[in-house]
Amino acid sequence: MTNPVANLLFASSIFAARLCSFRAVASSSPRTFSTSIPSSSLPRSSRFKGKTFIVTGGTSGVGESIALQLAAEGASGVSVVGRNETRGNGVVSKLRDLGCEGLFIKASMDSVPDVQAVVPKHEERFGVAHGLVNSAGDTGRGWLKDQSVESWDRLFAVNARAPFILTQAATNSMIRSKIQGSVVNIITITSHGGQPYLCGYAASKGALSTFTKNAAHQLRKDRIKCNGINIGWTASAAEHKLQVEETGDEKWLEKAGEKVPFGRLVQPGDIAELACFLLSDKSGVCTGSVIDFDQMVIGGYD
Ligand SMILES: *[C@@H]1O[C@H](CO)[C@@H](O)[C@H](O)[C@H]1NC(C)=O
Repeated sequence: MTNPVANLLFASSIFAARLCSFRAVASSSPRTFSTSIPSSSLPRSSRFKGKTFIVTGGTSGVGESIALQLAAEGASGVSVVGRNETRGNGVVSKLRDLGCEGLFIKASMDSVPDVQAVVPKHEERFGVAHGLVNSAGDTGRGWLKDQSVESWDRLFAVNARAPFILTQAATNSMIRSKIQGSVVNIITITSHGGQPYLCGYAASKGALSTFTKNAAHQLRKDRIKCNGINIGWTASAAEHKLQVEETGDEKWLEKAGEKVPFGRLVQPGDIAELACFLLSDKSGVCTGSVIDFDQMVIGGYD
């Protein structure tokens, strides 16, 4: 679908579908995890026309939502980086339906050679990327008293080392090609400290938060932005799987929604809106920010 009008119609129809599915989530059915459909009350734009992006963790959840939103707003190419070929190819075909070329890059974020191959593979197909989204993450549990060194190292490899390797490669290319690009790191509200069972996870995301600021400071003279989003509790398909495994309760989402002030968890589409803003020229000179995206206020007390 390359006709822009058809694109627009298609995008507004998926927005309507998304609204319906959100109602379904909010009212009764925890089975509905439409993480993949961009949500927006804004008109579709073509602000990413002719631009290409790399999204890690793009085969599901927040990453997939960002990839599809980029496509809905005119991106010409998106590389979706992940481990699962079936899901990767599924996202590529959804990107195609939105008029955007997709490339699935199979990579494990804990493998240095895999991660190092990502940017060259994108460039071989699309040329230098205008934006990079580090959305892949390992949410492995672990307490201070018994977290293994192996799990600690894996968390840092996936959550901190991979974003470093990718940001280095992508922004070196942007600098060489004089592209004023943008990097968005998906972090977590847990990076402020976090729950006791998320010891290594919180620490690794804290590292990513500081890296975001350090990189932003270095990249500012090249007019390349680097920002982070501290996402709160998000209703993604991965979270659904984890919650059902841990609680055995298929209806956890409904109950979780009742306990939070806005009556629902964060949706992947909510994050996609902000990520796309930060990737676009609309965010102006905003760089080095790590934005808390949650309904819990850090530092607030009752
Ligand atoms: C890949 O994703 C598909 C679809 O979600 C799932 O059925 C399959 O089990 C996944 N494969 C692996 C190896 O995780």
